[in-house]
Amino acid sequence: MSFRLQPAAPARPNRCQLFGPGSRPAIFEKMATSAADVINLDLEDSVAPDDKPQARRNIIEAVGDIDWGTKHLSVRINGLDTPYWYRDVVEVLEEAGDRIDQIMIPKVGCAADVYAVDALVTAVERAKGRTKPIGLEVIIETAAGIAHVEEIAASSPRLQAMSLGAADFAASMGMQTTGIGGTQENYYMAREGQKYWSDPWHWAQAAIVAACRTHGVLPVDGPFGDFSDDEGFIAQARRSATLGMVGKWAIHPKQVALANEVFTPSAEQVAEAREILAAMEKAKKDGAGATVYKGRLVDIASIRQAEVIVRQFEMIGG
Ligand code: COA
Ligand code: MG
Repeated sequence: MSFRLQPAAPARPNRCQLFGPGSRPAIFEKMATSAADVINLDLEDSVAPDDKPQARRNIIEAVGDIDWGTKHLSVRINGLDTPYWYRDVVEVLEEAGDRIDQIMIPKVGCAADVYAVDALVTAVERAKGRTKPIGLEVIIETAAGIAHVEEIAASSPRLQAMSLGAADFAASMGMQTTGIGGTQENYYMAREGQKYWSDPWHWAQAAIVAACRTHGVLPVDGPFGDFSDDEGFIAQARRSATLGMVGKWAIHPKQVALANEVFTPSAEQVAEAREILAAMEKAKKDGAGATVYKGRLVDIASIRQAEVIVRQFEMIGG
């Protein structure tokens, strides 16, 4: 074990990030009253090129005018390969009020991409005398992004969260699919005439979780495109939660409740975790490092596992 302790990720709920196009201000109020922990107002791919300037104006107004409650408020800027991104940062941070918490950078390919945005954000903050430091979040959605995922996770003290963006990731990787996340028809093993589907997103998710946990960043699962498929969304979200991710995007309001449910530890999970902690407390008193709980081994590592669940539950306000 390294002598360096693993840094904690930001202690705030991030179970669901609800997206909405910056060019559709009619839904902003509905986003604000949703049950999502994080709101992402989008300037990137849900906004047509001609609508970018107006979308910035809409967002600048909405940041000040709408009551966002306790939500973490984030604006997704355009990628560094576009002519839009610097104006997204400069206009939004110069003109929007202090209520904005975070900027999301899409298609990050290396640590220097984050450095560039950090430098611009820092300059605008100083010029405008902004006292509340803006956080950053990134999307891993290119081959370069996943290849450089660890240096990206370590890139800036502003970095709070990292999401997997399945659609752009699939395109960049040359994957033969048009699905946004979830089960892919052709990704299966076969035996005796039966198909057994596997998970093509698994390794990228696990790589993101490892990079994030190494550097104290929140790992988040991105969009699930087919918003009429609740079963598929829940299955994908449960796999993500099992791998260590803390939340998932919603690209339609009906996905918010599904994400919140999966990423809030259930009463049964919390009760079992507390029973394990109690069993280990008793074992410690008896001078043992390991004991038996419901017919299975629990030991000092089980304390750390159980604490993950209890801490997550308590942080969410359970
Ligand atoms: N946030 C909050 N409310 C939303 C919403 C969102 N993202 N999208 C739709 N709604 C509202 C609608 O206004 C409607 O409200 P109403 O019942 O008061 O009329 C209700 O939810 C049902 O909407 P529905 O008709 O099913 O969807 P739609 O056709 O209006 O919009 C999408 C569907 C997918 C185009 C829209 O949800 C959307 O733009 N999602 C986000 C896309 C995005 O940001 N992508 C970038 C990240 S991948
Ligand atoms: Mg994308």
